[in-house]
Amino acid sequence: MKATLSDYPGGQLIKSISQGDFKNKRVFLRVDFNVPLKNGKVTDDTRITAALPTINFLREKGARLIIASHLGRPKGKPEAAFSLEPVATLLGEKLKSDVVFAHEATGYPVLKQSKELREGQIMLLENLRYYAGEESNDNEFAVKLSALADAYVNDAFGTCHRAHASVSALPGLLQDKYAGFLLEKEISELGRVIHNPDRPFVAVLGGSKVSDKVGVIEALLVKSSKIIIGGAMAYTFLRALQVDVGSSLVELDKVTLAGKIMTRAKEAKCQILLPVDHKMATSFDPPHAVKDSENAHIPKGWMGLDIGPKTIELYTRELAGTKCLFWNGPMGVFEQKPFDIGTMSLAQAIADLPNCVKVCGGGDSVAALNTSGLDQHFTHISTGGGASLEMIEGKAMPGIESLKRVPR
Ligand code: 3PG
Repeated sequence: MKATLSDYPGGQLIKSISQGDFKNKRVFLRVDFNVPLKNGKVTDDTRITAALPTINFLREKGARLIIASHLGRPKGKPEAAFSLEPVATLLGEKLKSDVVFAHEATGYPVLKQSKELREGQIMLLENLRYYAGEESNDNEFAVKLSALADAYVNDAFGTCHRAHASVSALPGLLQDKYAGFLLEKEISELGRVIHNPDRPFVAVLGGSKVSDKVGVIEALLVKSSKIIIGGAMAYTFLRALQVDVGSSLVELDKVTLAGKIMTRAKEAKCQILLPVDHKMATSFDPPHAVKDSENAHIPKGWMGLDIGPKTIELYTRELAGTKCLFWNGPMGVFEQKPFDIGTMSLAQAIADLPNCVKVCGGGDSVAALNTSGLDQHFTHISTGGGASLEMIEGKAMPGIESLKRVPR
């Protein structure tokens, strides 16, 4: 069953842009254009494309658009490598329209430019994180941003877990505020996993650190019938079961926690599946003497770098019949062949599942999906990394909370 904005706690207090009147209004549109750049060019435009429906809608409704984002982590001061100028160029190409690039995000020249915008015209502000006030959620900085706009729209799902000025303090200053289409879609698609997922519901979790995923695992073990674990995180769990892991990456201080998680899962009748074999090597960079382990044990001097063929077979079999699936994190070091086989095989097995809602929760798994070309087979691929995990954990997200209108 599909969730809606109102399934988010207090979501009935949030308005969608489809309910707004934007004619001739200066609209501050917060997007997440935190995209990868190489030699001044955007190398993955997924987040830009994902914001286009909102941008086009607001333009058609006669808005004068002031678009703002962060890019990277420039620590509160200008740093050329993190300028949004290349993004302005690409956005203009995608929209087949001029995008005015403002070299600052606050100050008189930008204010003047915002006032001169005509209906449907767009201005992109320079990186909000060039200003220390953004990350410190500074009210004065938010007041300066608010001078640029008559209305506010948040379509920056990937940033909603941050209590930063442009997503938290700023919408607190404006009553005329809305969720954009991407934000609505993320809330409703991730909401399918959180509220009433079709069953059996299975989670596939990978990545390197248990510490990054504790909250998500704990939230999922009371909702899902199985959690399939891969990636380096698996070695910490195996170690808790006293399985030899050789020189594989293990978070020693999380071994006890991994054991406790497995006990809790048992109590919640959630099956935790761990690798039964591994693709391993004696060194990683460059990979040396790559081979598959005979069983779950990894001999001394070897490190596990991907799930092995028996595990791929087991996990594929265990996925059969799944009706709702959440996937986050690769099964191995997928950036380096041949340690991509586990992740790609699981992506294929998930893609092949019939009649199943398949939600991929951002981060590295998205990169793996895009490389494999299997993205079309997923119901939803989140544009958020940390944000999608916090959403699944059921945490209150500052960027969504601040869109709630105070009932008068
Ligand atoms: C992301 O890429 O996950 C978001 O843009 C948030 O970026 P941050 O982790 O630097 O806050």
